[in-house]
Amino acid sequence: MVRHFLLLGVLIFQAESYFSEEKYPEESKMQRPTVVIAIIARNTAHSLPYYLGALERLNYPKDRISVWAATDHNSDNTTAILKEWLTVMQKFYHYVEWRPMDQPTSYAGELGPKHWPNSRYEYVMKLKQAALNFARKRWADYILYADTDNILTNPDTFNLLIAENKSVIAPMLDSQGAYSNYWCGITPQGYYRRTAEYFPMRHRHRQGCFPVPMVHSTMLLDLRKEGMKKLAFYPPREDYSWPYDDIIVFAFSCRAAGIQMYVCNKERYGYLNVPSKPHQTLEDDRLNFVHLHLESMIDGPPMHPSRFVHMFPKQRDLMGFDEIYLINLRRRQDRRDRMLFSLNELEIDVKVVDAVDGNALNSSDIKILGVDLLPGYYDPFSGRTLTKGEVGCFLSHFYIWKEIVDTQMDKALIFEDDARFQANFKRRVLRLMDEVEQVELDWDIIYFGRKQVNPGNEEAVENVHNLVVAGYSYWTLSYAISQQGAQKLLNAEPLSKMLPVDEFLPIMYDKHPNEDYKSHFPNRNLQAFSTRPLLVQPCHYAGDPEWVSDTETSTLWDDDSVRTDWRGSHKTLKGAAPPPEMLSAAYRDEL
Ligand SMILES: *[C@@H]1O[C@H](CO)[C@@H](O)[C@H](O)[C@H]1NC(C)=O
Ligand SMILES: *[C@@H]1O[C@H](CO)[C@@H](O)[C@H](O)[C@H]1NC(C)=O
Ligand SMILES: *[C@@H]1O[C@H](CO)[C@@H](O)[C@H](O)[C@H]1NC(C)=O
Repeated sequence: MVRHFLLLGVLIFQAESYFSEEKYPEESKMQRPTVVIAIIARNTAHSLPYYLGALERLNYPKDRISVWAATDHNSDNTTAILKEWLTVMQKFYHYVEWRPMDQPTSYAGELGPKHWPNSRYEYVMKLKQAALNFARKRWADYILYADTDNILTNPDTFNLLIAENKSVIAPMLDSQGAYSNYWCGITPQGYYRRTAEYFPMRHRHRQGCFPVPMVHSTMLLDLRKEGMKKLAFYPPREDYSWPYDDIIVFAFSCRAAGIQMYVCNKERYGYLNVPSKPHQTLEDDRLNFVHLHLESMIDGPPMHPSRFVHMFPKQRDLMGFDEIYLINLRRRQDRRDRMLFSLNELEIDVKVVDAVDGNALNSSDIKILGVDLLPGYYDPFSGRTLTKGEVGCFLSHFYIWKEIVDTQMDKALIFEDDARFQANFKRRVLRLMDEVEQVELDWDIIYFGRKQVNPGNEEAVENVHNLVVAGYSYWTLSYAISQQGAQKLLNAEPLSKMLPVDEFLPIMYDKHPNEDYKSHFPNRNLQAFSTRPLLVQPCHYAGDPEWVSDTETSTLWDDDSVRTDWRGSHKTLKGAAPPPEMLSAAYRDEL
């Protein structure tokens, strides 16, 4: 009873203030517009976990989203992955329409999974039209098309695009090269036309939302706008004379309906994988994606897989080497993690060796190890002598050479922990080492990553693709080394006349310009080669915001009190732009 009285009292009190101050409950907020996401998946098992991961992380109420998902003509595990994901996710979304088709696994007249015969274009147009019909029937406000190798890493992509209030809008997506999901020009016949506007937009020197004649791959359509009623993916209009291609048919339809397409690059929204060429295989496509993924870990934003898709462990190997070493300072766990992750994605096995931390050595330790400075050594750019970091780095390489000799390895590969891998890294290494063996090349070291000091042509090695005789080089970012090579380096007894390891190697192959330094090492017969183009680059160069060098930023080797900070040393500066062959194929095509 007492409780009832109390309650009543509260109600009366509230009712009084309600009327006396004339406060009414505010109108509740609007619900978000309704969206259909059209997923049309084929042979993208490699990218699907990341694609789906990005979709599930979009900041948008899932109960305002319906998913329309079709998959067909697969020769990989696409159907199973999509099904696994939808099974979990369907309870969150407003509605899920699932249209799998197991057979056939290829199109009529198709030469390979990356080839597009007309039958395939037609089928894709019909699918896109079916998704559009579905969205219209359900009175959806928007439909989002997103190819399954487009990874929308920015969770606000939806909201940002909606805020632009355009009929057809695409978020500009980044790729491994210049490729993206818009054109700035179109020929009167409906083909791609190069324009001066493309690169300033692609590189975000100009930012905004721009009217363009073509967007594709990922785009948001506002179905509430009146003009949108006229749009169609299929069938092409009666007067259609442009190429038979789903993206061009749609661009034509927009143009005929008086609807302007827009591309937006105000933010980074995500990535798309450069499409493979018609003659390429699914494996090529997968490797392209691996490269995109690894690049996203360096330049960001990173991709993350869905939590609801099972990921299988990779099969790793040593690419024919006896051992592959990763030299990493224990306190640089971020670098170790990224390298281990990258090598795992590349299916390469690796042994981590803890680098000798120069900063933890004091000058008396260094003396006990038998280290002494090469008489007269000075850093060519700063005039300082050796740093402890450089001593640690030398020792780290030295102990590996010793292990190679002691355990009688035939050959090994060494990485420092700041390597950025060239596309198709593993394939290129396998092909290179195979050709090196075929021609019975007498080699001691092969640089995979270095800085060529003097620009100019180096002599190419006959009958081996992409290999030159190494000239004077800096860096020891990555190199292959043979048993014989390691032995030669040990025989030179370099600890007692130490200089930075990347100066020591060129002395040993007799390309160092300093005659005084060379005079301390009489046997300079190391057979040194370099890949060209290089197979790895450093992730960061001196002067980049993230650049930190553990070897050049430390204290002097024989004085614990003098801290050096050689940030911006010329040795680690980027030098000229990468040679054209470093650019991906797609980039060159664009150029
Ligand atoms: C395909 O994917 C499903 C779901 O993730 C998984 O259960 C299955 O083992 C995969 N099959 C292959 C051959 O990878
Ligand atoms: C969006 O654009 C339409 C014209 O298509 C216009 O009527 C409407 O007011 C705009 N909405 C906003 C919020 O600007
Ligand atoms: C150098 O470090 C060692 C331990 O690593 C220590 O025993 C020694 O006393 C130190 N010497 C000096 C001069 O600080």
